[in-house]
Amino acid sequence: MANNSDVRKIGILTGGGDCPGLNAVIRGVTKPAQDYGMTVFGIMDGFEGFVEGKAKELRNEDVSGILSTGGTILGSSNKGDPFHWCVESNGKIEIVDKTEDVLRNYKAWDLDALIAIGGDGTMHISNKLSKMGMNVIGVPKTIDNDLEATDLTFGHDSAVYVVSMALDRLHTTASSHHRVIVVEVMGRYAGWIALNGGIAGGADIILIPEFPFSWEKVFDKIHKRELMGKRFSLVCAAEGAKPLGGEMVTKGTNNKRTDPIQLGGIGKIVADEIEKNTGRETRVTVLGHLQRGGSPTPFDRILATKFGAFAIEMASTKRFGCMAALRGTEIVDVKIEDAIAKQKLVQMDNQAVRAARAIGISFGD
Ligand code: F6P
Repeated sequence: MANNSDVRKIGILTGGGDCPGLNAVIRGVTKPAQDYGMTVFGIMDGFEGFVEGKAKELRNEDVSGILSTGGTILGSSNKGDPFHWCVESNGKIEIVDKTEDVLRNYKAWDLDALIAIGGDGTMHISNKLSKMGMNVIGVPKTIDNDLEATDLTFGHDSAVYVVSMALDRLHTTASSHHRVIVVEVMGRYAGWIALNGGIAGGADIILIPEFPFSWEKVFDKIHKRELMGKRFSLVCAAEGAKPLGGEMVTKGTNNKRTDPIQLGGIGKIVADEIEKNTGRETRVTVLGHLQRGGSPTPFDRILATKFGAFAIEMASTKRFGCMAALRGTEIVDVKIEDAIAKQKLVQMDNQAVRAARAIGISFGD
């Protein structure tokens, strides 16, 4: 493959929360590298390793057999923002700037470019480094699918698969025991996992952050199903879902994280309210990190491989400050700053929302 540029050594890192398909991207970048006359240098544990100088060369044999494996062979961290580095001493947290360390390591490792695989937080850091003159290329990952510039992030399909499998299983037990089962899923401030997983798994009610729900409408849907002879219901609640006039439920905050807010707990609240107000026995299942672990779906393996191969092609043609993005069926490059300009949230007129409503799924709104 032609590489008429002077780009010879590429750093690669995986930042933020892991997701299925990261290894497929690393493989998609590393396997073609030799043909481009490039070497790939794997930076460990995301930007944390960049600051601390932890890296090693990646050869073909290092990426052999990793296509179907979850997680990341490079390790990841959502606490390593060099612009907001937390130092803890005597129980106090001090925020310091570690960008000098990153720039020093970039030089010391003799890198010509960096491929940063990550979500919103990683792209914000990448954008700032790019503005400081580093040659950065972004690859969008996250189960949340909340990056505006790309139709899909890899990892999302695998998470949706887990949600739909869980709902399938919960369907039979909910039906046998005539219960309501609430499934709490991830997604941060976006409802994509709940929406797509809920449709795929046949949920009766889907609660997402974008559409604050009315308690009455949730109870009403369960009553209506009872009147139709359906003595069970499945509720798929995004962790960021909130009632009208209410707030998102948090487990706490951790200032060391790129996003300090940890969501979680709405599922239990919804289950308790349903039991209290409908009299129907109710249970809650929190899927948590099951949605992030394990093998990527075939769709995610293909998307991640395309992203990886495209990213190294971008490096060979020096399309820096850009992120690979899916538009329709094609991978294109978009400016990282455009990609992070706003979060991609579920809109009222979204086709999946309309289809869900058409088949009788309630959003409680
Ligand atoms: O952004 C991915 C994600 O899994 C979110 O859906 C979730 O809110 C968060 O990360 C959980 O983060 P952690 O793994 O740090 O608990």
